[in-house]
Amino acid sequence: MTDPVVRFSRVSKSFGSTAVLREIDLVLPEGQFLGLAGLNGAGKTTLIKCLLDFCDLDTGDISIHGIACHKPQARSRLSFLPERFIPPYFLTGREFVGTMLRLAHRDYDESRIRAMFDDLDLDQAALGSPVRSYSKGMTQKLGLAGCFLSERDLYVLDEPMTGLDPSARARVKTILMRLRTEGRTLLLTSHSLADIEEICDHMLVLHRGRFAFCGTPRELRGEFGESTLENAFLKCIEVPVHG
Ligand SMILES: Nc1ncnc2c1ncn2[C@@H]1O[C@H](COP(=O)(O)OP(=O)(O)OP(=O)(O)O)[C@@H](O)[C@H]1O
Ligand SMILES: [Mg+2]
Repeated sequence: MTDPVVRFSRVSKSFGSTAVLREIDLVLPEGQFLGLAGLNGAGKTTLIKCLLDFCDLDTGDISIHGIACHKPQARSRLSFLPERFIPPYFLTGREFVGTMLRLAHRDYDESRIRAMFDDLDLDQAALGSPVRSYSKGMTQKLGLAGCFLSERDLYVLDEPMTGLDPSARARVKTILMRLRTEGRTLLLTSHSLADIEEICDHMLVLHRGRFAFCGTPRELRGEFGESTLENAFLKCIEVPVHG
């Protein structure tokens, strides 16, 4: 049997006396598009930081493609966009993307980069500009371009729609749908439940350190007898969490 793309086994993580993750179990199979929802401070970014070995776990294990997450090769098939993406201010757009491609062991192909800029509605002239001159949305698009151009099997995107206008959001969704048809795997956090419903086939609701829900968006609505995902989510986080 093949390993899932991501597996969390009884993962706990605290900061001081604050327990953020409490014995979390998670299996992300290949090809799944998984949306992680939760209130501000619920621990979504912490979960991602644990996955990427940016912090030590209190207890538990995490593997990526069957490899323990603290081993660098575990991340070799993964592309990550942080929730606060800030590229090195002294680089041009072209230099940033070139660096990302080198890190991903991809050839530099200017026409592919230009096509990705077009896909994201990012002016190609920005390639030659220092990233410190970019607007917020342009910076976010650059981060997404770097991620998507690396062509990895697993995309971990922490609030990827931050700062994007409606046109850019639609374009990102189109790219994500393309990745889905290619069989890639996605772990995404978002405060937009509508985005999660549109983009993801499965979702998790993280609340008080545990998953208060795990299933499809339709199942979340059904379980709480609500026609909108937002109301179902609100009901979900009001009920006591067991397990
Ligand atoms: N380095 C840190 N030191 C201390 N506490 C931290 C640290 N990082 C996160 N926390 C705390 O852990 C909890 C979870 O934070 P986290 O950033 O994971 O939440 P989140 O679900 O991503 O929230 P948001 O929706 O606002 O992005 C919060 O209480 C936060 O204050
Ligand atoms: Mg966060």
